[in-house]
Amino acid sequence: MMREWTQIEAQSDFPVLQRKINGKPLIYLDNAATTQKPNSVINAISDFYATSNANVHRATHTLGEEATHKYECARNRVRKLLNAQNSSEIVFVRSATEAINLVSHSWGLSNVQPGDIILLTEMEHHSNLIPWQLLTQDRGARIELLGIDDSGLLKMEDLDRYLDERVRLLAITGMSNVLGTINPIEEVAKRAHEVGALVLVDGAQSVPHLPVDVQALDCDFLVCSGHKMLGPTGIGVLYARQKLLREMPPFMSGGEMIKEVSFTNATWSDPPSKFEAGTPPIAQAIGFGAAIEYLQKIGLARVHEHECSLVEYAMAQFREIPGLEIYGPGPDHRGGILSFNLNNTHPHDLAAILDEQGIAIRAGHHCAQPLINRLGVRAMARASFYLYNTFDEVDRVAEALLMAKRILTT
Ligand SMILES: Cc1ncc(COP(=O)(O)O)c(C=O)c1O
Repeated sequence: MMREWTQIEAQSDFPVLQRKINGKPLIYLDNAATTQKPNSVINAISDFYATSNANVHRATHTLGEEATHKYECARNRVRKLLNAQNSSEIVFVRSATEAINLVSHSWGLSNVQPGDIILLTEMEHHSNLIPWQLLTQDRGARIELLGIDDSGLLKMEDLDRYLDERVRLLAITGMSNVLGTINPIEEVAKRAHEVGALVLVDGAQSVPHLPVDVQALDCDFLVCSGHKMLGPTGIGVLYARQKLLREMPPFMSGGEMIKEVSFTNATWSDPPSKFEAGTPPIAQAIGFGAAIEYLQKIGLARVHEHECSLVEYAMAQFREIPGLEIYGPGPDHRGGILSFNLNNTHPHDLAAILDEQGIAIRAGHHCAQPLINRLGVRAMARASFYLYNTFDEVDRVAEALLMAKRILTT
């Protein structure tokens, strides 16, 4: 029996989705790269600049207090979204990438010793790979990798192979930005903690698309980016347990992260200020808060359900196209990300033909070159869905792919 598809009516909230591209209504399927912004987010940012703009945490005037209040409200929204125990565990940074660099420098340089292991997976984005390469090279430590099987699922048996007391940290993506694979973080974190390793979750793709609860996952660090979840660019989050943030030295230094300063020395303020040197991304944090409010009104469980419906529908449609190969697991183990190749065509050509039809997909290595190479290709096309995508759009993409196939293979 056909399951019932979940539908979310949201397109009218997103001004950019009213655009035509090359004379065709825009179908935006590059959401894993960045998402579009609803009016409520755009308005929250412009209202802040129009009515309350001031620096935070330093002014005693009314505007300064209003700005600080809005900025801290945004932090509290993130705390609630992630179900962190305390808002001091939420550090605002520029992006998921910056958050991982914060951990690799601050925690990594003071905790990782020669011979230690940082355990990653074969499906990590470069942002959750290169910072650990630099750290392990610097410290005389090394990286080991949990593999993936032929369907793109994490090889759980590799935990037996690699987890021992030499592993200081397991850094793993919540959802692969290439295969859409959703990883069993709770189970993996439990296993890692049994050998005393810490766990960092790269939530750049999972936090925007499904309910994520840091206490239920029992992770030590989690990172995400506002722009991948309806918010503006330039704002990201590091969640870390309070105890870790207290122990970790600052990453960046300067104004606002200090208690006392002399010409030769300084002491640090408490987290999260200790890790928010200088003027933070205030308007971006406020816009991010509005994005979270929008997502919570719909509910992340519903967002996830809608995207699962779309991806299942798209997989069924795309499978009808001869020569189209889909990468990654079946719909039961993936979120709304679908990477594919069409026989004897280059994904860039495919993306260019789809763009002529108003359809935005991504083509390339998706900042996961080792994974793409491991799968035996040099590039892939990727359609990534969000709450505003529709089943009609999937039909139009399938038609456009058939047209591209005719153009490119005859
Ligand atoms: C899984 C994953 N991790 C990390 C990142 C990095 O995010 P940002 O560029 O916002 O720092 C991305 C971005 O595509 C991603 O997909």
